[in-house]
Amino acid sequence: MRLVLAPMEGLADDVLRAVLTSAGGYDWCVTEFVRVTTTLLPHSSFTRLSPELKHGSRTASGTPVRIQLLGSDPSMLAQNAAHLALLQPAGIDLNFGCPTPLVNRNRGGAALLDEPELLQRIASAVRAAVPLSIPVTAKMRLGIEDTDRALDCALALEAGGVQELVVHARTKADGYRPLVRWEWIARIREAVELPIIANGEVWNVADYRAICAATGCADVMLGRGAVADPLLARRIRNGQEDESTDADWEEIREMIAVFWTRVQAKLTPTQSPGRLKQWLGMMQRSYPQAEPLFRAVREARRAPEVSEELESHGVRLDNADAPHDCRQKRNRTAPGATHSADVTAV
Ligand SMILES: Cc1cc2nc3c(=O)[nH]c(=O)nc-3n(C[C@H](O)[C@H](O)[C@H](O)COP(=O)(O)O)c2cc1C
Repeated sequence: MRLVLAPMEGLADDVLRAVLTSAGGYDWCVTEFVRVTTTLLPHSSFTRLSPELKHGSRTASGTPVRIQLLGSDPSMLAQNAAHLALLQPAGIDLNFGCPTPLVNRNRGGAALLDEPELLQRIASAVRAAVPLSIPVTAKMRLGIEDTDRALDCALALEAGGVQELVVHARTKADGYRPLVRWEWIARIREAVELPIIANGEVWNVADYRAICAATGCADVMLGRGAVADPLLARRIRNGQEDESTDADWEEIREMIAVFWTRVQAKLTPTQSPGRLKQWLGMMQRSYPQAEPLFRAVREARRAPEVSEELESHGVRLDNADAPHDCRQKRNRTAPGATHSADVTAV
């Protein structure tokens, strides 16, 4: 079983990655996408999105971080991948799933899913440009409007030499609707030799079991579910039931304190509240305790007001340490919490 924290633009930045991986359970995570167009990007474009590159391409708790590239020009992607490889990333992932109109207008992400031959050219150009010690992987949706070319795309990426393939079980047209086509992941898995990582609509341990049963995959990428339940990967790994305990919520409160401290250090006092609201808003799905907290900070416009509300709801900010310290503290009480860092070979 391998569990991967999904790339989520505007949500899973370095701060959230550090906090979520500090709870343990993840084998690696993937950054938000770096857009490659017609230029060779400076190293700062990669390190801005992934400061982890300066720390061995790992989060503070030791989870490897792979960098995601998005683009449509095989040669530019290859040149940028080679340049990125000098920073020794834990892996390079190619995005063929993003449904955003702006990205798609520029022929990137899911827009390429009706051109399997182009996917193959991109994959092989990037693979050839990057040392073999660095995994090159890809993430795809099932198609643009329909699933007609899903198998062709997966076969093309395999022929292009990607090492692993994440399949998000939706077409671009499906957007993020709850409908999810796990059966297509099974079909792709049967058609290729590549290791397939299943993705889409896993919110709890029962969903994890269901996606494994439906797809035949044991490796799963967790997206929004990982944000809604910051302990989800660990729960899955431990086979823990979904009901959360008071101790779980206590641990999450500590994670919120670390997150808030880190977000304030990164953003301005007017930008930072939005990030916390975004996380708490999503957490309400898994934790009823997040609801009063979300309501309390919802109206706050500036960071000091948010801090006040958090403290009055029992989130202690005075000793909110870096995620690394958070992990060390937890290791004493939760053996196995650092599984991700220990088992991963990238
Ligand atoms: C806010 C948000 C941003 C996303 N950004 C990316 C991205 O940058 N690259 C990518 O490959 N997928 C991106 N995705 C898709 C997720 O990685 C994942 O495939 C999708 O959310 C389905 O998984 P889930 O049902 O577990 O959330 C994004 C999803 C969300 C919700």
